[in-house]
Amino acid sequence: MEIKKVGVLGCGLMGSGIAQVAATAGFDVTILEVEQKYLDKGFAAMEKSLTKFSEKGTLKEPVDAIRSRLKGTTNKLDLADRDIIIEAIIENVEEKKMMYASIDGIVKKDAIFASNTSSISITELLTSTKRPERFVGLHFFNPVPLMKLVEVVRTIATSAEVYDAAYEFAKKLGKVPVRTSDKTGFIVNRLLVPYMLDAVRAYEDGVGSIEDIDNAMKLGCGYPMGPFTLLDFVGLDTTYYITHVMFDEFKERRFASPPLLKRLVMAGWYGRKTGKGFYDYSEPNNPKPNKL
Ligand code: 3HC
Repeated sequence: MEIKKVGVLGCGLMGSGIAQVAATAGFDVTILEVEQKYLDKGFAAMEKSLTKFSEKGTLKEPVDAIRSRLKGTTNKLDLADRDIIIEAIIENVEEKKMMYASIDGIVKKDAIFASNTSSISITELLTSTKRPERFVGLHFFNPVPLMKLVEVVRTIATSAEVYDAAYEFAKKLGKVPVRTSDKTGFIVNRLLVPYMLDAVRAYEDGVGSIEDIDNAMKLGCGYPMGPFTLLDFVGLDTTYYITHVMFDEFKERRFASPPLLKRLVMAGWYGRKTGKGFYDYSEPNNPKPNKL
């Protein structure tokens, strides 16, 4: 199976990052969005990132050449000839299932369907199509252009041929793929989410301040970001959603949201994207911990 033409569903933070990486790796990419304004936003983010790489001299070709392989559309029919579809739309099971069902009859029969979901069951998503054996998870990490990992997720229905093709495709994107199975959270979030939630519980218990817990993990363990900086970076709304899916699956306290996380989400403090979370980003280069 040869993958040449890539379709990406959603041009948000993850979708635009995936599209950028695929075009940079030489693939022809079509990105689907519901409205032109979301495409414009995603394309602006790709432009900024590609310019950064170009200035650093890390691109093999001029930005123009990469840009010429990226096409945005609001018409699902433009996905018909894609060899692989990577879905990165809103993290909502019903929305994702509706999207897959709506394109299943449009996209050619032997194309692979992949989801970038971080917590929703790939097996549940594949039930919305007539191609269960051609369905995998391809879970990328934020920021996609910089983070090397892709989790390649196999379900009991995925064929070996499709799984291998998806694994090789992740390598061709310049990423390091890891093999995992369809258990909620896969490898990274299974370990990362309880760690981040424990940091919130440690703060609630008065173990240390937000800044001190962040510095402790950053400087004591060599992590690039402390847990609160990372929570604000990932998005508190996203993390809160993931806790629900994981707690529902495992019924273990370590996956349950601490009250403080819930309060922040209820208040609309989602982290960096809203300018407020565990930190205040009024001065983006000098975030200050909020008094919580
Ligand atoms: N494109 C191109 N360049 C970028 C970029 C992008 N999208 N984002 C940042 N950069 C550049 C910066 O401009 C900077 O360039 P410079 O050296 O010329 O100044 C360089 O990359 C380094 O960035 P920063 O100086 O801002 O900071 P860091 O050195 O800390 O690197 C980081 C940034 C790679 C994000 C690093 O902090 C990191 O690895 N953090 C952890 C991220 C992480 O854990 N992500 C996973 C989250 S979990 C997830 O996604 C799963 C989901 O399911 C929840």
